[in-house]
Amino acid sequence: MNTIDQSERIPNNVGLADDRALQRALERWQPNYLRWWQETGPEGSEGFDVYLRTAVSVDPKGWAHFDHVKMPDYRWGIFLNPEDPGRTIHFGDHKGEPAWRQVPGEHRANLRRIVVTQGDTEPASVEQQRHLGLTAPSLYDLRNLFQVNVEEGRHLWAMVYLLHKYFGRDGREEAEALLERRSGDANNPRILGAFNEKTPDWLSFFMFTYFTDRDGKFQLAALAESGFDPLARTTRFMLTEEAHHMFVGESGIARVLQRTCDVMNELQTDDPAKLRAAGVIDLPALQRYLNFHFSVTIDLFGADQSSNAATFYSTGLKGRYEEEKLDDDHVLRDRTYPVLAVTNGKLAETEVPMLNALNEVLRDDFIRDSVGGVKRWNRVMKKAGIPFELSVPHKAFHRRIGTLAEVNVTPEGRVVGGDEWSRGAPDWLPSAEDRQFVASLMGRVTEAGKFAGWIAPPPVGINRQPSDFEYVRFA
Ligand SMILES: [Fe+2]
Ligand SMILES: [Fe+2]
Repeated sequence: MNTIDQSERIPNNVGLADDRALQRALERWQPNYLRWWQETGPEGSEGFDVYLRTAVSVDPKGWAHFDHVKMPDYRWGIFLNPEDPGRTIHFGDHKGEPAWRQVPGEHRANLRRIVVTQGDTEPASVEQQRHLGLTAPSLYDLRNLFQVNVEEGRHLWAMVYLLHKYFGRDGREEAEALLERRSGDANNPRILGAFNEKTPDWLSFFMFTYFTDRDGKFQLAALAESGFDPLARTTRFMLTEEAHHMFVGESGIARVLQRTCDVMNELQTDDPAKLRAAGVIDLPALQRYLNFHFSVTIDLFGADQSSNAATFYSTGLKGRYEEEKLDDDHVLRDRTYPVLAVTNGKLAETEVPMLNALNEVLRDDFIRDSVGGVKRWNRVMKKAGIPFELSVPHKAFHRRIGTLAEVNVTPEGRVVGGDEWSRGAPDWLPSAEDRQFVASLMGRVTEAGKFAGWIAPPPVGINRQPSDFEYVRFA
C-alpha cells in the first residue's frame, strides 16, 4: 500500500483503480487542472527540464526520487499515509471513539469548509509566484521555486481527492471552484487575505516560504490530528513536503543576509544608501520585509476568539499542534487562555475560555516556531561581527483580523494614534522605495553555478549535487 503506482494516469496509493466512478471523476478534473497550471503556473516554464523530487512512496525513509522532469509532465498524484486500523479520536467530545473513515453527516458542512479553505491556499501560492521564474537569481533557486510550485499543485490534488471521494456532488463543485478563483482577483479572489497579496520579488518569496508556508505547516499539523481519518492521513503526508518549502525560505533569507554582511564588511559601512549602490539589500529593509510577512501571516490563524474554532475542536475535526504531546484532558471545557485586548489605550492580556481561543493557541505555537529561525538568521550577523539583530514584531503589530485590527500598534507593542502610525510606518513596513529597490535587483541568472549579486550561494546543493550542477535545462 505504501508504494505508489507511477504507471497510472493519476499516480496514487489509495487504490484508485478499484473505484471506477471516483477515478473517472478525477480524470475529468485532471485536464481542467492542467489548463489552470498552463494559465497561472510558472510562466514560460513549458519545456524546461527541471531537477525535481517526486513522491514515490509514503515511507519516510525513501519517499522521494530526484530526476530531471519536463515541467508539465510532473506526476501529480494522491498519496496518503498508511491507515492505522486501531486509531481513535484523541480530543474533543468524541475522545476515545474510533476515528471516522467516512464523513459524519452532522459535521459534513464544517469539514467541507475546512478542506476547501486549506485547498484554496495551495493553487493561490502558485498563482502568486507565477512570474518569479523570470527573475531567478540562479538555477538552484529556480529549481527550488518550481519544486515548491509543483508540490503546492499536489497539495491541491490532495484536497480535491477528499472533496471528490467524500463530499459527492458538492465536493465536485467545490473542486471546480478551486480552479476558478484567482489570487488577487477583485471579482473572484482566493479565500484568505495573505493569499491575495502579491509575491513580486524573490525577497518576498523567501519571506513567504519562511512565514506563510509555516502557517501551512501549523494548519496541516492541526488537521493531521483530525478525527476524520482520511484528512489526517493526507495532511500528515503533506507535512513531509512542506518542510522543504520552509527550508527554501529560511536558507534563502540566510543567504541574503550573508551576502549583505560580506559587502558591509568589505566596504566597512552600514549606510543603506552605500549598500544599495553596491547592489545588496540593507538589514533595516530586511527587517521591514520581515515585519510585513510576519504580520500578514499571523492574521491567517483567524480571530483571537472564535466559536468556529471551538466547534472544530470539540467535534473532533481539527486538533491543536502536536495534540498528543500536550498534557491536559484534551477536552478543554475548564481551561482558559490569555488573549490580548485593548484597555485604556494599552494592550493587556485577558483570560478567556480556551476552546474559543484555539486560533490564538495555534498562532502562538507558530510564533514560537518562527522565532527559532530568526535566531538562526542572527547567527549570520554575529559570525560576521555585525551588531544587528532581526526580530519578529509584536503580535499586535499591523493586524487586520480580530480585536487587534482596531488599533495601531508599533513593532515594539505600543498602541499609537493614527498620526504616529503614519509617521512611523515607513520605518516599520516596506516602503514603495524599498520595493522598487528590491525590484531593481531582480534579474535572471541562468548560468550553472552563478548567483545574482544580492544573494550568497548555498552551502550545499539539492540532493548533494555539486555547485555548478545544471538544475534546470532550458529547451
Ligand atoms: Fe501546500
Ligand atoms: Fe508549502
